[in-house]
Amino acid sequence: MSTPLSTPIDIMSDPNWWRQAVVYQIYPRSFADSGGDGIGDLKGITSRVNYLASLGIDAVWLSPFYPSALADGGYDVDDYRNVDPKLGTLADFDEMIGALHAAGLKLIVDIVPNHTSNRHEWFRQALAAGPGSAERNRYIFRDGKGPGGAEPPSEWPSYFGGSSWERVPDGQWYLHLFAKEQPDLNWDNREVRDDFLTTLRFWADRGVDGFRIDVAHHLVKDFSRPFPDRSALDLETLEHGQHPFADRDEVHDIYAEWRQVFNEYDPPRTAVAEAWVHASRRARYASPQGLGQAFNFDLLQSDFDAASFRRIITHNLTEARQSGASSTWVFSNHDVVRHATRYGLPKAASLASTGGEFQSGHAWLLSGGTSPELDVELGIRRANAATLLMLALPGSGYLYQGEELGLHEVGDLPADAMQDPTFFRSHGVEKGRDGCRVPLPWTIDGPSFGFGSAGAHLPQPAWFGPRSVQAEDDDPSSTLNLYRRALALRRKLQGGEALEWVDDLGDTVLHFRRPGGWESITNFGAEPVPLPPGVVLSSSPLNDETELPPDTTAWIS
Ligand code: GLC
Repeated sequence: MSTPLSTPIDIMSDPNWWRQAVVYQIYPRSFADSGGDGIGDLKGITSRVNYLASLGIDAVWLSPFYPSALADGGYDVDDYRNVDPKLGTLADFDEMIGALHAAGLKLIVDIVPNHTSNRHEWFRQALAAGPGSAERNRYIFRDGKGPGGAEPPSEWPSYFGGSSWERVPDGQWYLHLFAKEQPDLNWDNREVRDDFLTTLRFWADRGVDGFRIDVAHHLVKDFSRPFPDRSALDLETLEHGQHPFADRDEVHDIYAEWRQVFNEYDPPRTAVAEAWVHASRRARYASPQGLGQAFNFDLLQSDFDAASFRRIITHNLTEARQSGASSTWVFSNHDVVRHATRYGLPKAASLASTGGEFQSGHAWLLSGGTSPELDVELGIRRANAATLLMLALPGSGYLYQGEELGLHEVGDLPADAMQDPTFFRSHGVEKGRDGCRVPLPWTIDGPSFGFGSAGAHLPQPAWFGPRSVQAEDDDPSSTLNLYRRALALRRKLQGGEALEWVDDLGDTVLHFRRPGGWESITNFGAEPVPLPPGVVLSSSPLNDETELPPDTTAWIS
């Protein structure tokens, strides 16, 4: 395996390190298993720090590693200030962060403030204490409607299917916008607010550099008016800030308080909001008085299409300038069908079929990964072209574990392996997100392709072997080595957060220039286009240095 790059000194102390950082998302239970129980763990991550450094990333974002029954892959948190015993201990966490920092890598952890798990101490107390108690007031308990209160208080749907209300034995109902094991917290309660400030300080004191805020737009809910019915819940049609449980203006009071905590540290801790809100509302989350940065999922929801990419890039750069944040770019994460797969499907099918953030590649997933037919190589070729384009954009790039191997979604997981609550709450109608969470292949063969000494908690397909780190490490034409070369070059070429379009190659080509003479050209069309001299990297081999083939990006410097 490659040796780590030398430690970049500036990133560790520069307060603006996040503005153009490349952040690699680790879904810890599926990254590397040191304990041989089939579940990835913190020691597994520590053992792979050299690999992470060899990629040339700047930071790691760690999805939840807190104690959890895994009703929602760890986003059901039992205890915000501890490590799941299956993943290790706080001492393992300290060792991991020490190793990351020593390798020049920052660490961002996931904070899940909208809901706890139903095993959280507070929720147990709420159930025991009964209606009207201070313990219940940390959550959102209500009486039901209809005779005997037997109907849920409102028609609000859960994101994972079914009602968002669950009844408890004494007859009251509690709100859960996600799984029933994820009761929503009451953010009108000062005690809840203070407890999260304690949690932020707890991790910041341990050296954590930043936070990714889960469903940041949901915390505040308006119960002052009668519950609107389901038809009145569309964020797109409601006046901004008027939705009863999403993107309410008051949520920013919470983040203003968090900002004060972040600024107690040197360098200030950073945060990035996961906020599925109207594009015009994103800047509020990204404001320097708030979380500082927000994900834009526009590219992730777009087809591989020049006009659409250009519109999104232009819009988001303008928006970032207005908010004071830098832009963020992301193609894949633990919630969506991997981008190699989306781009290997016919365009109409790879577009969202029913709308919603988790829907791309939806029809293909529902078919068990058989229909429409996936063009495996085209998907990887386009994904690599898209990633190279993205890494040349101003702002931060967020990568998801395994994309550097060109991994596809696993579309044929058997029903008895499924873990995603979406699968269960839809009674198996939806497949959910397990296909992008299958443990990483590190070696060409072995019981779990080097993930651990035993099996993997989600079954890995045979095609993982040739897509493993071992297989790709020594292959100069592999996706892994493309990512490494791209990230190393990006460090050298990166300049100010500006971009200038060059309109010289037609509508199906995106050509832009960055300060310092760095240019990126992507050919989305069907024919090769002429290339200017000075190619330093291309996402697919060039037959001839003067021509850019279809579905390829080249960098010029
Ligand atoms: C976010 C997470 C997703 C989780 C949900 C509820 O969208 O990314 O994985 O299921 O929040 O916490």
